Amino acid sequence: MDGSASRAAAPDVTATGHVTVSRDGAVLVITMNRPEKKNALTHVMYAAMAEALGQAAGDAAVRAILITGAGDAFTSGNDLGDFLNAPPHGGDAPVLRFLTALSTAEKPVVAAVNGLAVGIGTTMLLHCDLVYAARSAIFTAPFVNLALVPEAASSMLLPRRIGHAKAAELFLLGGRLDAAQAEAAGLVTAVFDDPALAAEALNKTRALAAKAPGAVRATKALMKRGDEPVADRMRAESEQFSARLRSPELREAIKAFTEKRPPDFSS
Ligand code: COA
Repeated sequence: MDGSASRAAAPDVTATGHVTVSRDGAVLVITMNRPEKKNALTHVMYAAMAEALGQAAGDAAVRAILITGAGDAFTSGNDLGDFLNAPPHGGDAPVLRFLTALSTAEKPVVAAVNGLAVGIGTTMLLHCDLVYAARSAIFTAPFVNLALVPEAASSMLLPRRIGHAKAAELFLLGGRLDAAQAEAAGLVTAVFDDPALAAEALNKTRALAAKAPGAVRATKALMKRGDEPVADRMRAESEQFSARLRSPELREAIKAFTEKRPPDFSS
């Protein structure tokens, strides 16, 4: 990350193929870091991002993930040279490994969209739990302009999220939304002035990472269930609710309340 979020990051930083992975306490920060190409995503970058998400899943100390871009773009989408010269194929293609890891992540994922979000830069947001955007961010999904079709289940998820009318303009006409429009449409959680985005998004992610991890994961899982009869959803919630009433996390939350201190879920 270009801004204060990266400056605040812990020293354990790894960089693989234009992707930087760093730790800020319980937050894993994944930065698409190929600013000279507006962070266009190559196979190597997808593989590194999939690996980082796998690392986050397997590390109990990681409680939340933040994805952002270096420079003035979030990402210009798939590398066009790769599309032509090394198109992804098969379920094990790095792009699919990345999208699978992202869409099935049990831990919360936050996106800090620091600029242009093209193609997968927009569709990946549909799998993030919170999306913060810089005021200058632009969202566009010009698959048809490249004679392609949408990916990442976005042909279903984007119309569901922002409505068919706006999604059709993005997908069919290669239209664009600015940050305010994306927020109004429900694609973006909140918009911050450009210089403030990195720190604001990191603070939100830190706050998420400090919450009861079991409760966060269970809530995310409930929110990601597909449409179902209300009675089925109430049953699923009720099972989780009962389990959580018996959890050490609940005891800590109530103890902290009575002791007038913030809860500590770090262990
Ligand atoms: N793949 C490969 N290279 C890309 C790229 C992409 N998706 N997007 C941008 N680049 C490269 C440009 O070719 C340029 O390289 P160069 O400096 O060697 O010429 C560099 O990144 C900077 O891009 P540039 O076009 O000069 O910046 P810009 O600010 O004028 O425009 C974009 C930025 C993203 C609007 C524009 O580059 C663009 O439309 N890119 C294609 C996006 C796309 O179609 N993605 C796939 C979606 S499915």
